[in-house]
Amino acid sequence: SVGHETNRPLIHYTPRVGWMNDPNGLFFDEETSLWHVYYQYKPDALVAGLPIFWGHATSKDLTSWVDHGVAIEPADDVSGAFSGSIVIDRNNTSGFFDNSTLPGQRIVALYTEDSSSKQSQFAAYSLDGGYTFNYYAQNPVLDINSTQFRDPKVIWHDETQRWVMTLALSQEYKIQIYTSKNLKTWNFQSNFSHYGFLGYQYECPGLSKVPVLQSVDPNTTLASNNSSSVDFKWVMFLSINPGAPTGGSVNQYFIGDFDGKTFTADDSASRFVDNGKDFYAMQTFSDTPTNEVVGLAWASNWDYGAYVPITPWKTSMTLARNLTLRPYKPNPESSQLTLYSEPIIDHSILNTTQSIKKASLNLTTEESVFYHLTKTAKGLLEFTLEWKVNATAITSKKSPAAMTFNLRGIEDEEEFLKLGYEVNSGAFFLDRGISDLDFVRFNPLFTTRLVHFLEPYRIDQDGLPVYKVHGIVDKDIVELFFNDGSSTSTNTFYMSEENFLGTVELSSSVDDVFNVLNLEIKQLNT
Ligand code: FRU
Repeated sequence: SVGHETNRPLIHYTPRVGWMNDPNGLFFDEETSLWHVYYQYKPDALVAGLPIFWGHATSKDLTSWVDHGVAIEPADDVSGAFSGSIVIDRNNTSGFFDNSTLPGQRIVALYTEDSSSKQSQFAAYSLDGGYTFNYYAQNPVLDINSTQFRDPKVIWHDETQRWVMTLALSQEYKIQIYTSKNLKTWNFQSNFSHYGFLGYQYECPGLSKVPVLQSVDPNTTLASNNSSSVDFKWVMFLSINPGAPTGGSVNQYFIGDFDGKTFTADDSASRFVDNGKDFYAMQTFSDTPTNEVVGLAWASNWDYGAYVPITPWKTSMTLARNLTLRPYKPNPESSQLTLYSEPIIDHSILNTTQSIKKASLNLTTEESVFYHLTKTAKGLLEFTLEWKVNATAITSKKSPAAMTFNLRGIEDEEEFLKLGYEVNSGAFFLDRGISDLDFVRFNPLFTTRLVHFLEPYRIDQDGLPVYKVHGIVDKDIVELFFNDGSSTSTNTFYMSEENFLGTVELSSSVDDVFNVLNLEIKQLNT
């Protein structure tokens, strides 16, 4: 297995040692301007099990991370401090605080205590900015005597002046909604049940009020909008495992309305937050600076997270993402909204060690176009590829008309990540199976070939469809954002030690079908 610090992702959070799964308790501290990330953590093992703790990390930019070890412990060593969330109790509704704690640091965690007999909801609060916690003496705060009742995500609902908790009655396929005035006494309000892909069980639900940006201009961000004119819709996020259409774990969402008691979905469609294999249990941050919705997920899959060839830690988080709802392109007339994701990277703390920019590149079958980015490669790459497709130039239907965008290893070019677009199926494809590692070649659940149906991002003046992908590669993770983020695909991939990706190869199986309008590649370093 690959056990080198040199293989540690540079801008994705990883624990120093031990097992990590779901992000928990995400919040922003306005007093210190720090982003706090907690997570399911088993420091003494490389596989999930009991006891499990909340680990803790902070970041000032969501790009560099500081580790703080264990923050919340289970009641005993055969229990688990399972997933949950954190809210800022500014007005001290809970009574846990006095004036010695600044309003912006009145931190209350609500999480699931998992024991052999049941799963119930516990409260803990911090008097030191989130580094240590005191356990509420009268825990549990919510107990229905169930063994599958977990993952409370709490938000403040301004309209009804109440706290709202969503949590899963996992194998009954119910998201339950409870409300409270004080974070201690919780009243049942409604069930949101049997929506989307059910899989084996529901996990980690969450409600967020997501800004709706009516403009389809990709440069429109929440910050550039006048915040008073921003509309919102409610979005229910939900994870299921196993049972993803592509195998194992997946994160879905539903758009709708919420009146403080009941969530009503606009339709019964199932949509995925991310279409890759490694994006699970996403949670959004409480108390973000300008109410933007920022989420972060576990970049792994329960199907194989414990077996990936990495030590002494398993596994990583995704990058944080800014989430908005926008009319679905390429049909801006449609009132259908789609969740847009934009990765958050603070480029000011990164160095660009090499950079390539090309416009208008007509691909032919004669030769591949190579860009060698090997000099100071540390495995952190960012690229944008925009291409148009002239399907009328396809002369033979015998072989698929495909453009491939290979990211090759710097030590061994025969190990590579294969990306590309195939015209007949209209699919972007990814193959993470071209590796020497036994895990990649022989683990039956680590499926290596993925396809993702792509609609055009725009139609050019000649009526030809144009597509776009923005990618971030960080050692063993690739996050792809299609068409300004209207769909995404996050996947881990594993190659021989220190064989970081550093060479880009563009090729085509047909002449004059693919025209690269814009290609930008940057080699980055911390
Ligand atoms: C989701 C999950 C949660 C649970 C936690 C335990 O990945 O199964 O439902 O709280 O992990 O670590």
